[in-house]
Amino acid sequence: MTFIRCRNLTKTYRKGDMLITPLERLDLDVARGEFLALMGPSGSGKTTLLNLIAGIDRPTGGSLHVGEVDLSTLSRTRLADWRAHNVGYVFQLYHLVPVLTAYENVELPLLLQPISRRERHTRVAAALELANIADRHDHYPRQLSGGQEQRVAIARALVADPQLIVADEPTGDLDRDSAAAIMSLLTRLSGDLGKTLIMVTHDPGSTRYASRTLHLDKGRLVDSPMQEAH
Ligand SMILES: Nc1ncnc2c1ncn2[C@@H]1O[C@H](COP(=O)(O)OP(=O)(O)OP(=O)(O)O)[C@@H](O)[C@H]1O
Ligand SMILES: [Mg+2]
Repeated sequence: MTFIRCRNLTKTYRKGDMLITPLERLDLDVARGEFLALMGPSGSGKTTLLNLIAGIDRPTGGSLHVGEVDLSTLSRTRLADWRAHNVGYVFQLYHLVPVLTAYENVELPLLLQPISRRERHTRVAAALELANIADRHDHYPRQLSGGQEQRVAIARALVADPQLIVADEPTGDLDRDSAAAIMSLLTRLSGDLGKTLIMVTHDPGSTRYASRTLHLDKGRLVDSPMQEAH
């Protein structure tokens, strides 16, 4: 069952009188529950594509359906609202708030939702448990290792129970063992929880966890991988 459908998806930026087109007429279907890995050289449009699918950015052309919704027709405000309810975003550098504890960082997305304190606590505790970081709930980001920070960031991406999780080089800053632990956690999200997962990675080793790997080059999907230049 198709969950994400991109047709002729195009993103163009104007810089002075120069046009930059990081994504050009891209067609892509992603099934519900799929774990898709995206690879490609630096500047090939991976983050641009992820940001469109996650509703952070808006397409310049083409259509982009996620579930029943055509994101290309939503206003910025509606898009932000859609994103808050449907997408969890995991970044390479975690982006935790330094003055908040692990618990409070995970709680943050729920403060936007009309739910009781008790319900919030139940959900935060469950997300921390799932990400295997509950024992560090009262630690601040600076008191955590990179791998632990990424676990907190994954718990935060999960806590509002989004259908879609996108991750931009989630293991880019981690050593091999921490990266493997994060990858098995992400695999569990798609396998056990049925989340649809799209992950950008430069590490060919990480792609074996994914159900499918696609390669981008100069804003287009290509059949054979280009030489990675990073
Ligand atoms: N806001 C913007 N304004 C102008 N150009 C942009 C903007 N965002 C991205 N680009 C350009 O779009 C192209 C693709 O960028 P993108 O960030 O998607 O690459 P990437 O594949 O994620 O690369 P990397 O592996 O280095 O993260 C680049 O040439 C970049 O300079
Ligand atoms: Mg990128």
